[in-house]
Amino acid sequence: HKVLGQHGDLTGRRVIVTAGGTQEPIDPVRYVGNRSSGKMGYNLAAEARDRGAHVILVSGPVALPPPFGVELHPVDTAIQMRDAVRDFITDADALIMSAAVADFRPTRVAEQKIKKHGDKSTGQNGEGRFTIDLVSNPDILGELAMALKGDGDVRDVHAGGSIPQLKRRLIRVGFAAETEHLVEHAQEKLQRKQLDLLVANDVSRSDSGFGTDTNKVLIFHADGTMEDLPVMPKTGVAAAIWDRVVPLLG
Ligand code: CTP
Ligand code: CA
Repeated sequence: HKVLGQHGDLTGRRVIVTAGGTQEPIDPVRYVGNRSSGKMGYNLAAEARDRGAHVILVSGPVALPPPFGVELHPVDTAIQMRDAVRDFITDADALIMSAAVADFRPTRVAEQKIKKHGDKSTGQNGEGRFTIDLVSNPDILGELAMALKGDGDVRDVHAGGSIPQLKRRLIRVGFAAETEHLVEHAQEKLQRKQLDLLVANDVSRSDSGFGTDTNKVLIFHADGTMEDLPVMPKTGVAAAIWDRVVPLLG
């Protein structure tokens, strides 16, 4: 039985975990979203807390109770999530991005609820069709990779304001939910986002991915090695991930 906090291998560490899916508003009552339940991220947060970390949980809207003893920062959108991560990044030891961040958001948000029989300015184009124009969201891990490239100096590389100077080496862990070509996509993401670890899961399996209590993951390391883990409860997957982050912490 674990005792909360005191003597774990994350004692004295500050970690950020993102969880859930972001919701990108279309109008006051509708959004573009995804199927993320938040379970993997909430398990990661609880596990880090049990190992003694100060846990900042940046969470999209989920139907889960907030874990006791973690600092919860609820957000709705990808931009809010990016800004929340930035608020805490300077003195964090690790960032685990288990959130399913929406890649695109509606170009404009209607001020009023869009009516079924509205006018063209709201996306209606007649004949029972409706169009939403989308624009790219910031890539939270991607921006960090850009900012930390080379000599480790943080550079202002994007339009959304600067990433603050980091006080410590930040271990970065990404997730990849894929429906095909799992290994290829995972390796590409590990590289592109310059991650320490990438956890890939096949969301087309019924025992893995969105909403399930179990997960079947592959863990890719920065040195090119890969581990194929068996199907486990998400609590066990969370423990396995922290087991691999701990030795990377300076
Ligand atoms: N991620 C992020 N910011 C985004 C999108 C994703 O930080 N705007 C993070 C996710 O939290 C995850 C990792 O990047 O840890 C991989 O996310 P994924 O959606 O699989 O990768 P993308 O780069 O968005 O590629 P694609 O969706 O085209 O597969
Ligand atoms: Ca994506």
